Amino acid sequence: MSFDLILFGGTGDLVWRKIMPALFQAFRHGSLPPGGRIVGVARDDLSGDQYRALIKTRFDQVELAKRPSEEEFSRFAALLDYLRMDLSNPEDYAQLATRLQQRPAEVVVMYVATAPSLFTTVCEQIAAAGLNGPQTRVVLEKPLGHDLASNRTINKTVRSVLQEDQIFRIDHYLGKPSVQNLFALRFGNSLFEPLWRRETIANIQITIAEDLGVEKRGAFYDSTGALRDMVQNHALQLLCAIGMEPPINSHADAIRDEKLKVLRSLKAWTPETLSQHVVRGQYAAGNIDGEAVPGYRDEKGVDPDSTTETFVALRTEIANWRWAGVPFYIRTGKRLAGRDAHIEVNFRPAPHAIFKSPLVESNVGNRLVINLQPKDGLELHLLAQGSHQRHDRGTPTLVPVQLDLDFDKRFGVERVGAYERLLLDVIAGRLNLFVRSDEQEEAWRWVEPILDSWSSQPAGPRPYAAGTWGPSAASAMIARDGYCWSEEC
Ligand code: BG6
Repeated sequence: MSFDLILFGGTGDLVWRKIMPALFQAFRHGSLPPGGRIVGVARDDLSGDQYRALIKTRFDQVELAKRPSEEEFSRFAALLDYLRMDLSNPEDYAQLATRLQQRPAEVVVMYVATAPSLFTTVCEQIAAAGLNGPQTRVVLEKPLGHDLASNRTINKTVRSVLQEDQIFRIDHYLGKPSVQNLFALRFGNSLFEPLWRRETIANIQITIAEDLGVEKRGAFYDSTGALRDMVQNHALQLLCAIGMEPPINSHADAIRDEKLKVLRSLKAWTPETLSQHVVRGQYAAGNIDGEAVPGYRDEKGVDPDSTTETFVALRTEIANWRWAGVPFYIRTGKRLAGRDAHIEVNFRPAPHAIFKSPLVESNVGNRLVINLQPKDGLELHLLAQGSHQRHDRGTPTLVPVQLDLDFDKRFGVERVGAYERLLLDVIAGRLNLFVRSDEQEEAWRWVEPILDSWSSQPAGPRPYAAGTWGPSAASAMIARDGYCWSEEC
């Protein structure tokens, strides 16, 4: 199947950090359909050769195992081309149309990896140039909007020129192998389903921690913040994957319908829950891996008086029959103690204790940990009688043990990265791992009261030292329910 992949923002950060390396991996794995053309589009005055040379130098920053050899790059580079375009100029889209007509492809993917402010312009201009035919697919990067109203405006414009099944709203977390395995765990196995409910589960914790700061994206991040950057999309998509009902089949809309129901069931915020169940933080100077790092307000591009949050912890509930009363905790932040994304499903303790165990006594039950990164696998925490059993007045004492499943070890080289998978899905027209407009709008609707409440609170985020797990208020929030974050228990 011949395809054209047009990368708007072709010289930008996302293209050389994520998209090109992923395309190269797909090429190396032989999974990129033959007859493809990848055209970078940007304002820079570059020839095709200069663009290929630029991409080649960028590969020097890719980890060694994923870097092409000279020979591989020259074969890959044969797919690459470049077109200089001013994205607000209609004549330049006519030029693009001419370029595409020279060799009509069966699928044309327009990947809009530009500043979000250009999304609607690009879509409108694509249509004005007659490039929105049935073979066209448009990929939109996050953040899609800044709030519900701007998200709706973008969706409305895009839908006025394209059908919903031509629109691929990307959330790269859905492409991660670990998230695929979360779906497999829940819907490909029957073991946990009977337990996956309020009667057996005490609480669920979703952690997406990063040790990196804002890197070179200070200005972008300062107008975005952790709630918009991570919670509205990645964290809520994980929450949906954990909380959704089994879909009737694996079709995109069957999955997306179930995720939408979860988003609609999230407990509405009240002034009380907004003040008790949401914690925002901002990193101050600290240490990461023994090295001193600056505070957020001293990062390049960041306002020295910024009140943008780099950390969010919150508690919510899915108000439905399955989950009523079970707290779901989400926390995410930059410059935390490590790069660690995982989901903890904490089961209720045994209803009647005949053994002794420090864990049973502290009201902790079994735990399933779904490790997303850097490890990818499952841990099942159980209690057992160790070989050196302690008996306390005749009652055996249990000790914690765990079953470990390491997906990286098991599947090794067969693993396909998030962007690689998602790009191949777009070319093949598979929408399962992309977000529908109503899901996205519902997620914005739910986070908006938090944004509103913050804008009316002059106090701003709580500071936390870089290299820690965030403000202590996040621990106090979960402790009020009698629980603790994994590293504290
Ligand atoms: C992006 C955010 O969507 O996800 C970044 O904009 C964040 O701020 C990144 O660093 C995290 O992705 P990953 O795959 O490294 O966990």
